[in-house]
Amino acid sequence: MSFKLVEPAPARVNRSELSVPGSSTKLFEKAAKGDADVIFLDLEDAVAPDDKPQARKNIIQALNEIDWGNKTMSVRINGLDTHFMYRDVVEVLEGAGDRIDLIMIPKVGTAADVYAVDMLVTQIEKAKGRKKKIGFELIIETALGMQNIAEIAAASPRNESLHFGVADYAASTKAKITNIGGPNKLYGVLTDPLDASGRRDFVWGDMWHYAISRLVVAARANGLRAIDGPFGDFKDPDGYTAQANRAAALGCEGKWAIHPAQIPLANQLFSPSEAEVKQARRIIEAMRQAEASGQGAAALDGKLIDYASIRQAEVIVKMADRIAARG
Ligand code: GLV
Ligand code: MG
Repeated sequence: MSFKLVEPAPARVNRSELSVPGSSTKLFEKAAKGDADVIFLDLEDAVAPDDKPQARKNIIQALNEIDWGNKTMSVRINGLDTHFMYRDVVEVLEGAGDRIDLIMIPKVGTAADVYAVDMLVTQIEKAKGRKKKIGFELIIETALGMQNIAEIAAASPRNESLHFGVADYAASTKAKITNIGGPNKLYGVLTDPLDASGRRDFVWGDMWHYAISRLVVAARANGLRAIDGPFGDFKDPDGYTAQANRAAALGCEGKWAIHPAQIPLANQLFSPSEAEVKQARRIIEAMRQAEASGQGAAALDGKLIDYASIRQAEVIVKMADRIAARG
């Protein structure tokens, strides 16, 4: 390990993150009774400009009055380029009591954006004697944000997670796509001829691979959770599953749900399966035995395992324990 120790953000289960527009009060109770690990009540892109003042009131009332169970509760504020953002922070934090855990900052472009919100939140916490320290979820969804992601991820001790906002990222980079997340039929390669007939295959690639990988690295280098963003086609569970699995394979530990139907998918896909946990425990046990007999490596099922295998296996076991503890 490096001499520099990476402090992990507070441990939270964050497999599914449900977005709920702050203007749609009729959705609140259902969201509260559902199974999302995290809910963000939205003041930003799902709320029309004229509805923002009322949405703030709705969110404050909902945080104070609805039983949200053991969910982590977040509020997505408006971007720092708007005139809504300061009131979002002040009104919500002054009115919402202790049930709010996180503030989600959209379209973060520079470390100074995070610093500015941190300053505001810190003043309100002091002035109001708030005991519970608010954490930050940061959406990386602009070219500027992706360029500055390393500084952004390190910008505040409040930072807990980085989220990939695929729709705004596509807009900001002027990518040729109008779907929210998912594959793009333009993004692929044509193989060389595969046989004597000259047949060639067009193989689709994942056009978001770089962005997700970059985000995972910046998040993990700073002890933060890496969370994949929205998948717009809520009638396509298979498409959602594929996107979530490839995000999990790269190191994300959760994904947004823009519809309740996506919550059980995320909860299942980002939970280690029984078989994975069993295998992880076998690896740890086999390495313990190897160590006891003075060896630093061993063979398990015909494959090499060593101390790095313990660290890989512990990721799975710790996540399973955290999920079990959440209940
Ligand atoms: C989320 O905010 C997105 O832009 O995808
Ligand atoms: Mg966005």
